[in-house]
Amino acid sequence: MTTTRIGDIQIAYDDVGMGSAVVFIHGYPFNRSLWTEQTEALTSRFRVVTPDLRGFGESEASEGAATMNDLAQDVAKLMDHLGIDQAVIAGLSMGGYVALAFAKQFPSRVKALVLADTRAQADTEEAKQTRMQQAEKAMSEGMAGIADAMLPKLLTPETVSKRPEVVKRVRDMMLKTKPQGAASALLGMAQREDLTEFISTIRVPTMILVGREDAITPVADSEKMQSKIATSHLVVLENAGHVSNLEQTAQFNFALLKFLDRVFA
Ligand code: MLT
Repeated sequence: MTTTRIGDIQIAYDDVGMGSAVVFIHGYPFNRSLWTEQTEALTSRFRVVTPDLRGFGESEASEGAATMNDLAQDVAKLMDHLGIDQAVIAGLSMGGYVALAFAKQFPSRVKALVLADTRAQADTEEAKQTRMQQAEKAMSEGMAGIADAMLPKLLTPETVSKRPEVVKRVRDMMLKTKPQGAASALLGMAQREDLTEFISTIRVPTMILVGREDAITPVADSEKMQSKIATSHLVVLENAGHVSNLEQTAQFNFALLKFLDRVFA
């Protein structure tokens, strides 16, 4: 792990391997360890960069909303620092919101996109209200209650009952998240803009992946994105929920490597 100062905060990240760069952006409320298995699968051929977003993992938090544009700018500044002009940008869930915000702000820096278990729409009014309540709850009570409430929505019932190691891994990531980081990201997600129209302007190869049983960003959200992005294809992962890269690592990595082979053919 390395850290560097990016504007107002210290950002932690891993930068391993050599070759064309792939930047993996984690979801909420996780950290860069979400991508351990993808990093291992790619490092013999690619340069893999996994930041802890502002407020997550070992990166510092900041006060106020961390908007998806702020988080995308942090990623761009980290790429500047590392001398990476262009990369494959891959994000899961909130990481996907950040990847889309990145693609909108820095289109020439995107070689290809991987959008996993995510969506292009903004929050509904009801979802925004829930985010505000969750942000207050994180600040007043810490992450344990949020982790307990989120767990059954993140994984399939089968994983919850039969794979304690996956449950523990997801829960531990959530418990490690700083309440301030979670609150800032929640406010940022509530403010994010609707990118449904923007995505029809994307012209780079895009792979959309989603767990068949994703309860947070269901398959229908991915189908909508696929219908808008002319250069995209959709992969639905069986027996996976929202954190599909952890639940079905082999299927996820197979699709990822096949996609990267095509991008760099
Ligand atoms: C995530 O996994 O990043 C979040 O669940 C996304 C969201 O709450 O919209």
